[in-house]
Amino acid sequence: MTIVEATPGSTLAESSTAVLETERLVLRAPRIEDMAWIAELADNRNVAEMTANIPHPYGMADAAAFVANLPSGAGTATFAIFLRTDGYNPLGPPIPVGMCGFVARNGEHPEIGYWLGEPYWGRGIATEAVRALIDHAFGDLRHEALLAAARVVNPASRHVIEKCGFQWTGAGLTRVRSIGASVPVDRFRLDRSLWVSLRAWGATAHPTRGRVPDRRH
Ligand SMILES: CC(C)(COP(=O)(O)OP(=O)(O)OC[C@H]1O[C@@H](n2cnc3c(N)ncnc32)[C@H](O)[C@@H]1OP(=O)(O)O)[C@@H](O)C(=O)NCCC(=O)NCCS
Repeated sequence: MTIVEATPGSTLAESSTAVLETERLVLRAPRIEDMAWIAELADNRNVAEMTANIPHPYGMADAAAFVANLPSGAGTATFAIFLRTDGYNPLGPPIPVGMCGFVARNGEHPEIGYWLGEPYWGRGIATEAVRALIDHAFGDLRHEALLAAARVVNPASRHVIEKCGFQWTGAGLTRVRSIGASVPVDRFRLDRSLWVSLRAWGATAHPTRGRVPDRRH
């Protein structure tokens, strides 16, 4: 992952100035001009019911309010996720696919959140984006720990969380705005020390695992 300076744009209230780049993705702060695609992709019950704060139905006014009131404060970040044009989609502009970020509430460690438009599920995009988000949180913003939660009926999100190194810490309840009720969730935590170890293991991983020698000869 590389981080480059953001160019000044028409962002209303950027909570993060970093631009994160991965092999297939670019992550940058949401802007006014993102409202239309945010409204289109977020207006989906399958997305809303798995997240805490997305209302359903979701329209342009909701997207405008979201972009105008991005969580702010030290150690907070919100990123719009785009598929890069180079490689994945060489003929077109970057494709907006979803949103991710983290915010600290009530003096707790920051909690990550993310969603993708349904057409983009199942390609490893969330895992790639969340790993970049985590590297930013620990590497640039120097957080000591990150939290995550997933509904117990959301195995895809649990997979993303576990593939990123989070450890299960317990069960709880979270209010889901779109259904107006509290639902069971699993809670997770990733400490800086584990992130450092995972990064070190990744860098020193044995490139190939040889076959067990056949000792019969
Ligand atoms: C959760 C979400 C972000 C996942 O995005 P994604 O890009 O499809 O995720 P990835 O492809 O990186 O990883 C998903 C993993 O879950 C697995 N998975 C998907 N559906 C699954 C299911 N029903 N049961 C078990 N595993 C499942 C995938 O196989 C994959 O694991 P693998 O890489 O080991 O094969 C996306 O489905 C989404 O936006 N959902 C609605 C909003 C939401 O749930 N946000 C998270 C709130 S906590």
